Amino acid sequence: MKDLKIDLGADKIKIEKKKDFLTLKDYSRDEILYLLSLAADIKKEKEIFGDRLKGRNIAMLFDKHSTRTRLSFEVAIAQLGGNCINLDASSLQIKRGETIQDSARVFGRYLDGLIIRTFAHETVQVFADNSNITVINGLTDKYHPCQALSDLFTIDELGLLEKELKFAYVGDCKNVSNSLMIAFSKLGLNITIGCSPKYGPNYETLQYCYQLAEESKSRINIIDNPFEAVAGADIIYTDVWISMGDKDSEEKINELSAFQVNSKLLAYANPGVKVMHCLPAHRGQEITSEVLDGSHSAVWQQAENRLHAQKALLVYLFSENF
Ligand code: CP
Ligand code: NVA
Repeated sequence: MKDLKIDLGADKIKIEKKKDFLTLKDYSRDEILYLLSLAADIKKEKEIFGDRLKGRNIAMLFDKHSTRTRLSFEVAIAQLGGNCINLDASSLQIKRGETIQDSARVFGRYLDGLIIRTFAHETVQVFADNSNITVINGLTDKYHPCQALSDLFTIDELGLLEKELKFAYVGDCKNVSNSLMIAFSKLGLNITIGCSPKYGPNYETLQYCYQLAEESKSRINIIDNPFEAVAGADIIYTDVWISMGDKDSEEKINELSAFQVNSKLLAYANPGVKVMHCLPAHRGQEITSEVLDGSHSAVWQQAENRLHAQKALLVYLFSENF
């Protein structure tokens, strides 16, 4: 965080604690940097934070599959002394028509927090607006803020979270790239998106991020040539081409094939380039096994860091004095 230091002295940070974590849009640059520094402390000195969630009941409601988000939150809550309740989405009354508003009101009578993974981002917002408890977005079609927060932490660990970083996201632009674009432009870091025009960032998020980038004096480059996009990159990041809930599309796979992260693409990047992927990977589609398992890959460190970053988020949202 060479150029991005903030003064973390307790009385110097002007952080107004938020109720929810729905999108990084709601979090300031300083709040994001504070969470990153908390994640680093937690990773180093786990035991100090051992009972920060004591007496807290946090439920998880997932309408989509998950390995990392579900597991890392469950382990994080247990290691912080809290109680995690895994809700089976199909057995709740919501599936029989009880409204989200009514369910949210009831959840608020029992729980301290709710982690949701679902389709429409609006659903997460409705839960947050209709309950007094903390709601965390564990991924929607539009955003994946827990992933982006954790990825910033990994980039910092790699020693690359600095103004000169050349970061290239390539492939399909969806929830993960939206959250990364927001995070980068909030922090004043440049981001290059290598994509086919048809599958680029959505207009609304792009306009929002252009505005942020102007304020933070950073750049968002959208490039449709994959080799130009990764030229000299320190980090190449990709995500699946067919996201959960999206229809399989041969046309889309063909359209994106030039953006596959393979050894030919890596040859255009910085020789020490690191490769990131939120996972799960579709080996042989957006990334080759050779790259995923190769020496440039940072994906397993990236996956582990979901645990530490999520603990930081939980401590910040649910514990006094953080
Ligand atoms: N990256 C990520 O969110 O993984 P899961 O879908 O396994 O939770
Ligand atoms: N874009 C992917 C991310 C998975 C973590 C999806 O939504 O399926």
